[in-house]
Formats: sequence, C-alpha cells, structure tokens
Amino acid sequence: MGRNRVRRKKRLEKERSLITFFSPKSPISEQYRTIRTNIQFASIDTDTRVITITSASPGEGKSTTAANLAAALAQQDYKVLLIDADLRKPSCHYYFNIDNHLGLTNVLLNRNNLSEVVRETIIPNLSLLTCGTIPPNPSEILGVKRMNSLMNEVRGFYDYVIIDSPPVLVVTDAQLLAQKSDGVILVVSSGHTIRENAKKAKELLTHARGKILGVILNRYNRKINKKDHLYYGDY
Ligand SMILES: Nc1ncnc2c1ncn2[C@@H]1O[C@H](COP(=O)(O)OP(=O)(O)O)[C@@H](O)[C@H]1O
Ligand SMILES: [Mg+2]
Repeated sequence: MGRNRVRRKKRLEKERSLITFFSPKSPISEQYRTIRTNIQFASIDTDTRVITITSASPGEGKSTTAANLAAALAQQDYKVLLIDADLRKPSCHYYFNIDNHLGLTNVLLNRNNLSEVVRETIIPNLSLLTCGTIPPNPSEILGVKRMNSLMNEVRGFYDYVIIDSPPVLVVTDAQLLAQKSDGVILVVSSGHTIRENAKKAKELLTHARGKILGVILNRYNRKINKKDHLYYGDY
C-alpha cells in the first residue's frame, strides 16, 4: 500500500472511532457518557477539570478514550480542550481530520501563541491542541517552564482539559502530565493489559503524586465475559 493510502486508511479508521459523535445512540457512547457523569461527580468537591488519560502500554485505547470523552463532555455544552501530549506517537488529529503542523510543541518552544495553534473541531465546544512538530527530545520538552503557564492559561479558558499521553511503562511523560493534572484515568484493555503492568502503572502514577480518578476497561467483550459488566470504578 502506498504511503498516502496508508494515511487515508488510518484517518478513516480514527474518524470512525469517534463513536460518541458518529453513533451517539450506541451502547458504547452511553458508556462514555457514564464516565463523563463519574468525572462530573469527582469535580463536585475538588476542582477536577484537567484530566490525563493514560495506560501501561501502547495500543490499549488511550487516544480513543481521550477523544471520545472530550467529545462527550463537549456534547454537554462544556468548553473542552483535547491536548495531544503523546509527542512520540501523536494521533488525536486523525479523529477530527485535522493536520498536525503546529501544536503543543510549537507553543512549548515559544514559537507560537496558544491561540494561533488551537483548532476548532467538527464538534461544537470541542477544541484540539495537536501535538505539533515532533521534537527530537520529547521527554525534556514537557518539562519546560512554559508548560506550567500553558496549563494555567487553558485552565482559565476551558471547563475541561483532556490530555492524551504516552504509555506509563514506556516513558516518564505520563507521570509528569499526571503531576500537572487534577486527575488521571488509567485505561486497561480487556484481554490485552497484563495485570502486573496495570499495577505497576498505577504505582508509578501514584508515586508521581497523580490522583487516579478511576480505571476504564476498554475492549470489553460482553459475549466472552457474560458474568461481569463493564465498569468504571474507584481504584
Ligand atoms: N474498544 C475498542 N474496540 C475496538 N477497537 C479499539 C477499541 N479501543 C481502541 N481500539 C483500536 O485500537 C487501536 C489502538 O487504540 P488507541 O486509542 O490508539 O490506543 P493508544 O492511544 O493507547 O495507543 C486503534 O486502532 C483503535 O481504533
Ligand atoms: Mg495514543
């Protein structure tokens, strides 16, 4: 397959994955709305508005969860910003068919203002800050001072900020993002995430003073697991 065809396939696949928007009545969208409600309950006493989505390893559904959760919140008329902070494997832009020329990294390197690079999506109230130019030193870039002022800036402007991140066990970025967020959601992929890895990820996040809001069980197959149910609970 040619490079363009591969890109197109990837884009179409991601667009379809934005199920809360394209199939709002599906049971999966309903699950995202349940998670949304749980987040809202978590925000009653403490200000829980900046939330990092992560998981132990690659391919467990972090980006899919981040995009759909951000969409579900925006559909309730909250002003939402989705930030793609997976600087190694950015993918949020695919869900909305937006290019990734400028984004988070360009702001962190003081090359652009936030307002220049934040993009509107097809979903009203949902804005996207794509990853931007992929840097040679992703780990250092999230640690720059500008990151803190950027977080303050977005906090003042949006009701919710959802941050997509790289896997916890692969690089330290998610721990750093957890520190800067009000809460973290750990995605666990049914039949894919190794229990020990999920535990290790949780430990690393807690050690980094990340507040784990809950765990999302992704790729759960009701037909295979008849006795249990899909859950989103306190850890
Ligand atoms: N619940 C699900 N059911 C089916 N496919 C899924 C599900 N969650 C994620 N995927 C697919 O799995 C792949 C990896 O998901 P992604 O969200 O990109 O993971 P991560 O960001 O953790 O690497 C994508 O192709 C995505 O469309
Ligand atoms: Mg991802």
